[in-house]
Amino acid sequence: METVVSGIRSTGKLHLGNYYGAVQNFVKMQHEFNCFFFIADYHSLTTHPTPADLHGNVKQVLVEYLAAGIDPERATIYVQSDIPEIPELYLFLNMNAYLGELERSTSFKDKVRSQSDNVNAGLLTYPVLMAADILIHRATKVPVGKDQEQHLEMARTFGNRFNRMYNTEYFPEPYAFSFTDNLVKIPGLDGKGKMGKSEGEANAVFLSDSPEVIRKKVMKAVTDAGPTEENQQKPDVISNLFSLMKVVSAEDTYSYFDDLYNKCQIRYGDLKKQLAEDMILATAPVRERINDIASNAPYLSKVARLGAEKARASASKTLNDVREIIGFRHF
Ligand code: TRP
Repeated sequence: METVVSGIRSTGKLHLGNYYGAVQNFVKMQHEFNCFFFIADYHSLTTHPTPADLHGNVKQVLVEYLAAGIDPERATIYVQSDIPEIPELYLFLNMNAYLGELERSTSFKDKVRSQSDNVNAGLLTYPVLMAADILIHRATKVPVGKDQEQHLEMARTFGNRFNRMYNTEYFPEPYAFSFTDNLVKIPGLDGKGKMGKSEGEANAVFLSDSPEVIRKKVMKAVTDAGPTEENQQKPDVISNLFSLMKVVSAEDTYSYFDDLYNKCQIRYGDLKKQLAEDMILATAPVRERINDIASNAPYLSKVARLGAEKARASASKTLNDVREIIGFRHF
């Protein structure tokens, strides 16, 4: 069975776009592959979180992925910093990662521009740590978006370089993977494209948003002056609301508002009120699970321990092999 690895940013609280899209990918994958999903808390140190924020972020992400349907018995879900073999492999890979290639990475260049006051070595070697995350389980499939393609290419480069250097075929090549064909695309509330945190908090509805916050965000969504011709095409600032409705509302609710739009009788206030209530209803079960799991410390600690145990079994096997290949010998 093929091995899948994916790292989840520890500041990545889930919005509806993640929930109906990428996370469903994970949930499906856990039934078909040997899956390792981890919370990338070492990576998050590049931005210097406070100790309280660091732990809080890791907990929120763990809770939300469990609530969204990752089964800790089926998949291996773990916290990166529980696996000491990862930084050890990172050290080895760093010896054959070159300054020039690391400096040329797009994400590094972006960071140099956006946070010029904090260009630390961890940022520079971020792709090496990510390669270690993947190679530690000798994974071949990595469910990530387009923005991670270059990092994946570097992971292949580092694995291949190790193989060549030691004349082995130890590391397989990891490639991006998704069931995207069936992924639902969730637009943001601003009508400017897909839902995302980087487009501003108000553009995205988070699973952790309270019903009150969801109502406020939806009611604030931009609309236009209304349709002027029957059956006209919907502009982006309106079609996004309908797309969201398609996902969270009943079919006849959707057609009711679609008909009103087509007859030029729609009142956007009513549409948004309905959309907000249906969003709240659709996400209520997962919100409830989030609250249950978040307050269940024994369960969380059991899940984290189980994940670490399974991940370390795989990681320590790789690391033993790697040490042997490199030439470390016991006296
Ligand atoms: N860089 C990824 C992101 O920003 C997170 C990540 C870290 C990752 N290590 C990984 C993803 C290993 C896949 C595999 O989203």
